[in-house]
Amino acid sequence: MKTLTENGLTAAALERLANAPDARMREIMTALIRHLHDFVRETALTPAEWKSGIDFLTAVGHLTDERRQEFVLLSDTLGVSAMVDLVRHRYLGRGTASSLLGPFYRPGAPELPYGANIAGTTPGEPIKICGRVTDGNGRAIAGAALDIWQAAPNGKYDIQEDDPTKMNLRGTFRTDTGGRYEFRSVKPNSYPVPNDGPVGVLLRAQGRHPYRPAHIHFIITADGYEPLITAVYIAGDSYIESDAVFGAKPSLTIAYRKNDAADEDATEPAQMIEFDFALVPAVPTLQVRSQRATKPARATKRSRNSHRARKTAQKD
Ligand code: BEZ
Ligand code: FE
Repeated sequence: MKTLTENGLTAAALERLANAPDARMREIMTALIRHLHDFVRETALTPAEWKSGIDFLTAVGHLTDERRQEFVLLSDTLGVSAMVDLVRHRYLGRGTASSLLGPFYRPGAPELPYGANIAGTTPGEPIKICGRVTDGNGRAIAGAALDIWQAAPNGKYDIQEDDPTKMNLRGTFRTDTGGRYEFRSVKPNSYPVPNDGPVGVLLRAQGRHPYRPAHIHFIITADGYEPLITAVYIAGDSYIESDAVFGAKPSLTIAYRKNDAADEDATEPAQMIEFDFALVPAVPTLQVRSQRATKPARATKRSRNSHRARKTAQKD
C-alpha cells in the first residue's frame, strides 16, 4: 500500500473509474474529479471551508421541491446553465441565440388565436409583440409553435402569486403561412430571482444583486428543427449588462417602437416589439456527440498564474 500524495490521490480516484460501463459517464466523472481536486489544491481549501460548502449544498437540497428548484438557481447564478447552453450551440451552429429556460416555465399554456392578449386583466402598459419564424435562410416556417411566458409588471410570475394554479401571462401561438406570429401583452419588468434561500445568501456574500432584466420567454418548436429555448430582452433595462443569471445577449435585445396601427385603431397598443426568430435544422444526437471537442478548454491566464503562484508557495 502506498501513501497517497496530492497528485497520487487524484490518480487513484481516476483509476477507480476504469470499469465504469458507460464511456461518457467515465469521461464526465474523470473531468469532474480532476477539476474538483485541482480546486481544492488551488484554493488550499480548509476542512472548515469544505464543511461550509457541504452545509450550503445540504440547504440547497432541503429547499428544493417541485415548486422551488434551488439547484437550478444555483447553476444559473454561477453561469453554469448559460455555459451548458453556449456549448450546446457550439454544435448547433447558426440560428437565433438561446437563453435560459429558468424555473418558471409551465407546460400546458393555453393555445391562443393569432394576435390574442396573454395579459388578461393584469394592469400594465399594453404592447404588441410580433415577427417571423424562419429557417435561417429567410424561408418561412408555417405552423411553428411559440410557447410564451413572462412576469407581470410587478416582477412576479403567475406561480409566485397567491393562487399558483391560475395561469396568467402565458400562451401558445402558431405561425401563419408566412411564418408570422403576433400577440399582445403588457410590458415586462426587471425582477429579482428568488433570493430568500441559500442562493440569495451566496449572491450577497459575493456582493451581487439578484436582478434579471425585463424579458419575455419563448420556446419555439417546429417539425424538423431544433427546439429553440430563448427570451427577448428589453433594450435600456438597468440590468441588461449585469443579468444575475447571464442569460441576456445583445442579439436577443430589442427596443420598443411605436405601433403605427395605433394611429387608426384606438384598441391597438401604442408600442410594440418586432423580433424574428431563425431555427436550425434538427441535429441527430449522434452527430452532436461525434463533433464533441475532446481537448479540455485552456486555462485562463489568471487561473494559470494563480496556480503557478500556489505551486511556488508550496515549494517555499
Ligand atoms: C427566469 O428568467 O425566469 C429565470 C431564469 C433563471 C433563474 C431565475 C429566473
Ligand atoms: Fe424570466
